[in-house]
Amino acid sequence: MSVRIAPSILSADFARLGEEVAAAERGGADLIHVDVMDGHFVPNITIGPNVVRALARVTRLPLDVHLMITDPDRYIEPFRDAGASMISVHVEVLPHLHRTVHAIKTLGAKAGVVLNPSTPVSALDEIAEDVSFVLVMSVNPGFGGQTFIPRSESKVRAVRALLDRAGNREAPVEIDGGIDLTTAPRVVAAGASILVAGSAIFHTQDPERATRDLKAAAAGARGASSPAVR
Ligand code: DX5
Ligand code: ZN
Repeated sequence: MSVRIAPSILSADFARLGEEVAAAERGGADLIHVDVMDGHFVPNITIGPNVVRALARVTRLPLDVHLMITDPDRYIEPFRDAGASMISVHVEVLPHLHRTVHAIKTLGAKAGVVLNPSTPVSALDEIAEDVSFVLVMSVNPGFGGQTFIPRSESKVRAVRALLDRAGNREAPVEIDGGIDLTTAPRVVAAGASILVAGSAIFHTQDPERATRDLKAAAAGARGASSPAVR
């Protein structure tokens, strides 16, 4: 499985969202990562299904919707209807995670489960075989532009190993927070195969080139690492 780059529009210029997404797409972006925040689970407030619907009209890339909200069950269907292909939910807010994961899959989307930095990998023990992907947060969610938490590297390794043990070898590990040209090769070598990047792409003069450069850095790491990377 090759490494995919998922630019996070959180760091884009919201007044020029279509152009920003088009630039990332020209640079070889594989997905568009959409950060949904409710001002409750995380301190920030961002966007809802209407923006996802608007994005779906201007890009052919799959929309990867990361729900940082207290009550994701209520909003899965609206985001799926709006065009989300991947929907991820935080284990920290879901007492009935198994039900939620299967609800997302029943709607025809890929179901991702997200771990905050302080949430142990063991939180996935009973759900590892059901998920379509796992998202490891390498910063505390809420804002772009934060510093990568180094411990996330070993966490990616542990999640990859857990998914493999569960027989879910096809499920990728996604990583989100502080990914740039320096951290990208490290997390790919650890087993991440979807890299989310916000500020490293959109807080540059040339998001198209930044996407291309990040993809090249990630691909280089993949070539140098073990065949276990997917
Ligand atoms: C943080 C979001 C991230 C954010 C990453 O809560 O989930 O997707 O956009 O931003 P960077 O890449 O700047 O750390
Ligand atoms: Zn995110």
